[in-house]
Amino acid sequence: MKVYLDNASTTGVTEEVLEVMLPFFKEEFGNPSSLHKAGIRNKKVVNNSRTKIAELLNCKRSEIFFTSCGTESINWAIKGIASNNKTKSDIITTRVEHHATLNSCKYLEERGYTLLYVDVDKEGFIDLNHLRSLVSENTLIVSLIMANNEIGTIQNVKEISDICIKASTYLHIDAVQAICHTSLNINELNVDLLSISGHKFHGPKGIGLLYIKEGTKIAPLIHGGQQEQKLRAGTENIAFIAGMAKALEIGLDHLESYQERLNTYSRMFLKRLDEAKIDYLLNGPEIGEKRLPGNLNLSFKGIDGTSLEYLLNRKGIYTSTGSACDSQSIEPSHVLVQIKVPEDYINATIRFSLGSDTTFEELNYVIDNLIHIVKKEI
Ligand SMILES: Cc1ncc(COP(=O)(O)O)c(C=O)c1O
Repeated sequence: MKVYLDNASTTGVTEEVLEVMLPFFKEEFGNPSSLHKAGIRNKKVVNNSRTKIAELLNCKRSEIFFTSCGTESINWAIKGIASNNKTKSDIITTRVEHHATLNSCKYLEERGYTLLYVDVDKEGFIDLNHLRSLVSENTLIVSLIMANNEIGTIQNVKEISDICIKASTYLHIDAVQAICHTSLNINELNVDLLSISGHKFHGPKGIGLLYIKEGTKIAPLIHGGQQEQKLRAGTENIAFIAGMAKALEIGLDHLESYQERLNTYSRMFLKRLDEAKIDYLLNGPEIGEKRLPGNLNLSFKGIDGTSLEYLLNRKGIYTSTGSACDSQSIEPSHVLVQIKVPEDYINATIRFSLGSDTTFEELNYVIDNLIHIVKKEI
């Protein structure tokens, strides 16, 4: 049996999404900037996809800019704001961000900006009072992750944006893990910039977007032609743009049932570990609306995480030790260190991330094997 429980790393493209994309690789290959019919048809596809996405996210279509991935969107948001707002020099983030944010911020720190980190508690929630104390008239941008890719913590973005509005600072939200997993309404959240990546919700890899609120002073990312309002030039990836729009539509359509099902599965998973008297910690918040559905970041006491992952892998169970981007590293993940997972647990931490295709039978297979391996290891 093969069981894929690494949906937080990436997801596969669904049949419906693939069908939407296929024509643009062969028959409908016109350049959206061309003035003939094949070009105009594809310009419409790009425009319609942008309109659909804007409606689904509740923002203006002119505020959606297509990029190649979440990492690109995040880099653009942070560095693009820094380039066009030279009078302020403080950047505020947390130590539990994705490396796209951490390293973009560090890049600017090396060039003279001041980098300030907001504290998070043991479940990964931002200390709002600390944020209030850090923002000032010198704050250039606050960049925070909405839903943590490792431990699933979902922040209250509205409370964060209220603080940033009062302080007149730009707020960028990394919503790469949040979208299609928790509700997200850009207008209500009232943020300035927000990053999304297609491959986290059954869209293709290699496409993302940056929401940029009207009036935001941001430098262009790529100079060239007229595309993306001259801010991110380059011939549009029509197939992937249309595919991402379709994936978003489907994902949001199924959001409630997806959340309910995966939360039920997660509770069942933990109940079975409890019944088997396994010594584990659930890192991050309890299962419910403040945790990403299907995210089970578990630490097992006194065993070796690499061999646990290896043995699960041998049983056809695909998981992740912390963040996929870090899987080459044997250092405990920066997020787990930050939330202070105890030393005798931290080395055996596995992130099981369930997805829309996960079945009850698959989960039982995983839990049976996990219990067996953990008991034998100890
Ligand atoms: C929270 C978060 N931000 C950003 C990214 C980067 O997105 P992409 O893989 O599209 O570059 C990821 C990917 O794992 C993520 O989980």
